Amino acid sequence: MFAFNYYTPTQVVFGRDTELKVAELIRQFGGTKVLIHYGGGSVVRSGLLKRVTDVLDAAGIDYVTLGGAVPNPRLSLVYQGIELCKREKVDFLLAVGGGSAIDSAKAIGYGVTNEGDVWDFYDYKRKATACLPLGVILTIAATGSEMSDSSVITKEEGLIKRGYSSDLGRPRFAIMNPELTMTLPDYQTACGCTDILMHTMERYFTNGGNMEITDSIAEGLLRTVMVNAEILAKDPKNYDARAEVMWAGSLSHNGLTGCGNDGGDWMTHKLEHELGGLYDVAHGAGLAAIWGSWARYVCQSCLPRFRRFAVNVMGVEPVGTDEAIALRGIEALEAFFRRIHMPTNLRELGLNPTEQELTDMAHKCAVGVNGGKGSARMLYEADMLAIFRASL
Ligand code: NZQ
Ligand code: ZN
Repeated sequence: MFAFNYYTPTQVVFGRDTELKVAELIRQFGGTKVLIHYGGGSVVRSGLLKRVTDVLDAAGIDYVTLGGAVPNPRLSLVYQGIELCKREKVDFLLAVGGGSAIDSAKAIGYGVTNEGDVWDFYDYKRKATACLPLGVILTIAATGSEMSDSSVITKEEGLIKRGYSSDLGRPRFAIMNPELTMTLPDYQTACGCTDILMHTMERYFTNGGNMEITDSIAEGLLRTVMVNAEILAKDPKNYDARAEVMWAGSLSHNGLTGCGNDGGDWMTHKLEHELGGLYDVAHGAGLAAIWGSWARYVCQSCLPRFRRFAVNVMGVEPVGTDEAIALRGIEALEAFFRRIHMPTNLRELGLNPTEQELTDMAHKCAVGVNGGKGSARMLYEADMLAIFRASL
């Protein structure tokens, strides 16, 4: 077991109608002029944005709005947001939406409070020393960005998707009303559930230090998300299932399921970020498409964890060799993905990359992780290419 620093400063306000508390929360954290940042328009269509601006109008809180954060949010909009905030003297950011709007808002927050090009942080050239305070009204359970320290941005030039992590970017508050997620298309609900599973699994499949309490929390979270993902596939308006998944999404990526280990593996995410950057696929679907190939590639190097996952999470009978049990666990998770209509390879994701594209993605991925990364197994460029090939 390793020493750890568990820091989750975000105030969570959870339940029906909680978005109506947004003005008092902004005041509590000192906001006087707000940028409301949102995505491609779902919050306009659902009426949520109007409800939020009505609350701010009634409270006399000044604001400007900026929509247009797309899935795999773009650097050019971040630059626009930074200019707007400086011009309008914004002192508080409110992201209304999912991971894309939240991540874009975090990047705007770094850009406003630090000199120079904000991309430097995503390019690992330097570290931010401040961020504008940020609050969130969450509309999709998925990334955990509402409590996490990370932000993932895509630079259009070169289609480079990179993440930057800093405690400075953690939201001050997160409003989570499970009802707000009921307008999601089924595909996005399933993508979100996959991402939630994967944030815990990245921390679970490690060779470095584990705690029983962390493992038990992780396994309970994974089982809960799977049960409720299947309920939502049939009954998308089920409030309790929405609530279970929404809270799991935050707990999965706020550090809780990584306490005591070596920081996790994270290579499924790194490989997916190449797919997201190049082909603009939904993050959760990209993870599902790559995971099985990654798991088979690294399984031997992390066998006790794969065996434990198979038995404790996927309910595999502990009969036969460890290898056979581990493999049945991998197959069981892939079967679950199919049941919620997630892809289990690149073809099912709708991609048919050329050998050159696979080579380029493996190269960019290796550069992005400074040569090599992984805890279940350390992976280098040749390994990344082998996994991409196996996932065709
Ligand atoms: O853009 P709008 O019109 O709002 O539509 C969105 C979008 O098309 C739609 N949507 C969201 N809430 C809705 C809704 N539609 C109807 N009703 C609602 N209530 O769903 C689509 C996906 O939204 P998005 O915000 O892109 O989803 P998600 O939360 O999955 O975010 C994905 C991004 O976050 C990054 C991903 O790589 C990707 O770029 N990640 C961020 C992380 C973090 N900051 O900690 C960690 C993750 O691993 C991930 O990498
Ligand atoms: Zn993710």
